[in-house]
Amino acid sequence: MQLPDGEDGKLAECPDTRAQTLGRDPQPKTSGLLANSVVREAEERCMPDETLHLPLIHSVLEREKDTPGALLPILHAIQDGAGYIPDLAIAEIAHALNLSLAEVRGVISFYHDFRTTPPARHTLRLCRAESCQSMGAERLAAQLREQLELDDHGTSADGQISLRPVYCLGACACSPALELDGRLHARLTPEHLRDLVNGCLEEGSC
Ligand code: FES
Repeated sequence: MQLPDGEDGKLAECPDTRAQTLGRDPQPKTSGLLANSVVREAEERCMPDETLHLPLIHSVLEREKDTPGALLPILHAIQDGAGYIPDLAIAEIAHALNLSLAEVRGVISFYHDFRTTPPARHTLRLCRAESCQSMGAERLAAQLREQLELDDHGTSADGQISLRPVYCLGACACSPALELDGRLHARLTPEHLRDLVNGCLEEGSC
């Protein structure tokens, strides 16, 4: 099964050959020391009581478990409902689909879209597609990495802000663009971007 291009431009290969990719096709993850340290810090944050999500998990499994290639739809549905994929969901999913824990974890770790910690308070999605690239998006991405000391998919250790690249927000005529907590900001300048980020960090709201 072929999946979206990796960083080296080659097609990545999904580690999960038993669960077929269905529906949405999120971006594969890259590795990096910075990303790993951020993930570790995020995992050390106070975690919520995951048993609160059991009714959601069971209802999703009951609905989807017999669908061919159910793993990805199940993961998406749980994340959509809970905001992330709780650790206890992994065992439930593995049991329902007759997969190993490693197989379920392998798919989760392969895709950037899946997260195993609660979402940050703010999500900033900078467009990296062609039109925005031609208008300076890569420079803005570098600015974000430097200001927040995160990689392109990072989450700050305090859980305040997450970065996510996106590939076209439908605002190409107003490039470069980003989406912050669902709100579009276009014709971005470095100053405007810095102000948006500072607003998230300093005031706790945007
Ligand atoms: S390329 Fe960035 S909004 Fe379309």
